[in-house]
Amino acid sequence: MSSTEELTEKFNKLGLEEVKIKEILKNKKVLASFDSILSESSSKITFPLDKTKRLLLHQLAILSKGETIVNRQLITESILNDDLKSNQQLDEAFKYVKANGDNATKAKLDEVSGVGIIVTEDQVKSQIQNYIQNNKNEIEEKRYQYLPKILANVRTIPELKWANPGSFKPIIDEELSKLLGPKDERDVIKKEKKSKKPAASTTKPNKSDDKKSQENQRSMFTEGFLGDLHKVGENPQKYPELMVEHLKQVKNQVHTRFPPEPNGFLHIGHSKAILVNFGFAKHNNGVCYLRYDDTNPEAEEDVYFKSILKMVNWLGFEPFKITYSSDYFDELYQLAENLIKNDLAYVCHDTAEEIKRSRGIKEDGTPGGERIPSKDRNRPIEESLKEFRKMRDGFYKPGEATLRMKQDLSSPNPQMWDLIAYRVLNASHPRTGDKWKIYPTYDFTHCLVDSFENITHSLCTTEFYLSRESYEWLCDALHVYRPAQREYGRLNITGTVLSKRKIAKLVNENYVRGWDDPRLFTLEAIKRRGVPPGAILTFINTLGVTTSTTNIQVGRFESSIRKFLEDTVPRLMLILNPIEIEIDNVDDDFELEVEIPYKPGNDKFGSRKLTFTKNFYIDSNDFSEDDLDKEFFRLKPNQPVGLLKIPYNVSFKSLERDSNGKITKIHVNYDNEIVKKPKTYIQWIPKSSKHNSPIKIKETRVYNQLFNSENPSAHPEGFLKDINPDSEEIFHNSIVEPAFKQVLKESPWSIDEENSIPKEFNVIEDPKTSGPEIVRFQALRVGYFALDKDSSDDSIILNRIVSLKESTK
Ligand SMILES: *[C@@H]1O[C@H](CO)[C@@H](O)[C@H](O)[C@H]1NC(C)=O
Ligand SMILES: *[C@@H]1O[C@H](CO)[C@@H](O)[C@H](O)[C@H]1NC(C)=O
Ligand SMILES: *[C@@H]1O[C@H](CO)[C@@H](O)[C@H](O)[C@H]1NC(C)=O
Ligand SMILES: *[C@@H]1O[C@H](CO)[C@@H](O)[C@H](O)[C@H]1NC(C)=O
Repeated sequence: MSSTEELTEKFNKLGLEEVKIKEILKNKKVLASFDSILSESSSKITFPLDKTKRLLLHQLAILSKGETIVNRQLITESILNDDLKSNQQLDEAFKYVKANGDNATKAKLDEVSGVGIIVTEDQVKSQIQNYIQNNKNEIEEKRYQYLPKILANVRTIPELKWANPGSFKPIIDEELSKLLGPKDERDVIKKEKKSKKPAASTTKPNKSDDKKSQENQRSMFTEGFLGDLHKVGENPQKYPELMVEHLKQVKNQVHTRFPPEPNGFLHIGHSKAILVNFGFAKHNNGVCYLRYDDTNPEAEEDVYFKSILKMVNWLGFEPFKITYSSDYFDELYQLAENLIKNDLAYVCHDTAEEIKRSRGIKEDGTPGGERIPSKDRNRPIEESLKEFRKMRDGFYKPGEATLRMKQDLSSPNPQMWDLIAYRVLNASHPRTGDKWKIYPTYDFTHCLVDSFENITHSLCTTEFYLSRESYEWLCDALHVYRPAQREYGRLNITGTVLSKRKIAKLVNENYVRGWDDPRLFTLEAIKRRGVPPGAILTFINTLGVTTSTTNIQVGRFESSIRKFLEDTVPRLMLILNPIEIEIDNVDDDFELEVEIPYKPGNDKFGSRKLTFTKNFYIDSNDFSEDDLDKEFFRLKPNQPVGLLKIPYNVSFKSLERDSNGKITKIHVNYDNEIVKKPKTYIQWIPKSSKHNSPIKIKETRVYNQLFNSENPSAHPEGFLKDINPDSEEIFHNSIVEPAFKQVLKESPWSIDEENSIPKEFNVIEDPKTSGPEIVRFQALRVGYFALDKDSSDDSIILNRIVSLKESTK
């Protein structure tokens, strides 16, 4: 590979703009691909290259992502020959070559990417007129509101595949105004309604021009799993007439849902589910339900309901509606009876053990044995119906009867082996009280409630992959609209435990401060620790969504948080272990006011004034009595040191100690007669009651990883044995400079950094509804900190969010 300098020079010669070059250099994979693309076809490249070719080559490098693409020079040459002229053509060409490798030919490449096909403006016009004629009724009904849909549909007309898409809009506009006349109040009212409808959110509303730039931006919503999802209305149905009704209801708007079971606190893995469901809907101007899946009354508790909603809001989302599976218990019951009447369900009296056997689970617990239908499988419909009503009326005890779907025991898919639809539970439900003695299972409830709520995209993680078949089976069996279940890979953080049972153990045995202990990875814990919600969203967006599980080390999550904080929080001086310094050679009332920016290099953060006085504090670690320590560059008896923003060094004079020999004060000289500037700077905080300094901190809690290993659960003696004894270090004497008060008052600091964080993935927290953790700052040379919820008006407690640098452990 060429050196970075050589490449930069080459890029310059090609005529790439400075910003583009920077962007390319930042991404190693793209850089490597660009390098090999250029060498693949070095003899054909002219300097400078015309703009379209330059951009297409760059795009090709992006698509290649550092991978080796056999036969890629076919594409490179087609670009250089002027055969490929647009991104769309390039996409098709790339897909083709990537799939065919050695067998790819230029002729076929030309064919799939439409090389040489010219679609004239007249042809475009006649296709569009055709389309509008064929969809006249719908267009007349929905008028201009329907425009985006027309645009989208026109794009998919096969004859227009290689037309210039830029020409569509003006033609559509012209044709629509012929058909509908100018826009009038019908269009205006509808428009307003529409813009209110999408989930209101606590993030700042986007201005329309922002929106445009967003649309061009690549994100987890435009590529990968989510980018490839079907459009509303394109999910297949067994009964197409149901789709017609469905579309009338959803009006082309994406409908998703986030369906947690209210039986525990959400953790980091759920933040991906929240962003996938709420974010995908929002990105597409759709709506997302928060649906509590409360079909298991024995495990549900009020705190979980509350916490789940709080966490959704914290991540910047507002549910379209909050619903409960139990809202639909009556309808579900009715459908269960229908299923029996269709001879597709039966009441079964087998024990759990018998059911396992009949599914082919052998005595030793291994699967694969013969599957035998239950003795009750073929009982008459009337009998099952009677028995089901007896279940409902409390005749049976738990375990004595279940309602089972009559699926397909010969299917290779265990989700088709007569799943249980209803079971008897002797439990009172938080919402329906004692009304029900039977409760529907997840398998019965989930797909039907998705259907009731007209969900267009039912997005879940891959462990439900096999459920897709039973999901569709049940919707079809009951002749209801069938939403599309699609599965993405979940987010798995390693180096910690996420299971409810394990966290409960840590909490109950006092290894941590509670479910929201900053060392845990529940969302409550991450919030308390001070991680900004935008940092989580940005992190997940960076990972992208695919169908495989993403295993991420805690450290990688933390470095993403660090980067986010670096761009967004002010900086202050904090000292963990203060030691007092007195300057001998200045008067008692000596004062030097200095102005210190909250973030050097960024004026938007503003600055504060701090007064340097005769007495001040430094960190005891910044002083060493050992003159011989060559590695120590801060204050030593024979070595002066600089103080941040102070023009001159101070140099050591003498020490005071208490009766135990502990240093209580260091006397120094202010070297204001030496003009050379100091090299090493340490932080300092004045000791001055006049200037209300320092501010004392009751506790500074410095957190490290809770576990020693990457996989605590694999510890031979159990995960508790993997706990890091130094995961929490508390400093009781720490101090911070007076400007902390201003940071406290003005947090959260929401600095709108251009380009640094895409708006879609940032969350502007509302101080009225969020907690003390929004007070965040970087303590210079120490770490990032946030105010803990244990703080009060007169006692400050800080948590370390992350260290400044990755630990080298
Ligand atoms: C879902 O759509 C159907 C029509 O297909 C409609 O009757 C029903 O009210 C809709 N449900 C919701 C919750 O909007
Ligand atoms: C249900 O539970 C209650 C107590 O929790 C008990 O008194 C009652 O007998 C139980 N009913 C059945 C049918 O098991
Ligand atoms: C998730 O991470 C743990 C290690 O913490 C690992 O044992 C497990 O296999 C991972 N899960 C998946 C699905 O990769
Ligand atoms: C200030 O202190 C630094 C050590 O921190 C030293 O390298 C430098 O020479 C000093 N400057 C002066 C002018 O003494």
